[in-house]
Amino acid sequence: MSADDPSPAGPTLDDGAYNAIVIDHFRNPRNAGTLMDANAIGEERNPVCGDHMRLMLRIEDGVIVRASFLTRGCGAAIATSSVATEMLTGRPVEAARGLTRQDFVAAVGGLPKSKVHCSVLAAGALKKALADYAG
Ligand code: FES
Repeated sequence: MSADDPSPAGPTLDDGAYNAIVIDHFRNPRNAGTLMDANAIGEERNPVCGDHMRLMLRIEDGVIVRASFLTRGCGAAIATSSVATEMLTGRPVEAARGLTRQDFVAAVGGLPKSKVHCSVLAAGALKKALADYAG
């Protein structure tokens, strides 16, 4: 994984545009990989850039007990994916339904204005994973 943000026109991780929380989640993503016993899966593609996230959840008795992700995208997308899995783990499904992309942006301490759209991956994948579980 490169330390540089792969988005062609975006800021890089080394130019001061990203805060330390974003850089930490990008360089040390939490819960990255396939969740073999997932029972709710959601995938989202960012229409702006084509980047993609797969969110996998294990839900037991109405609570998200594990969450993992696979994201092909920029540093902001990976950081918000990572923080989303942390926020989801241990959270009741009904509480998870109320999470928005703004919550994920806030959890990483904010994003550069040009990168706020990247949080759509985590929010969209969550919505689809919860619909997958319900359906
Ligand atoms: Fe594609 Fe950030 S540039 S998700």
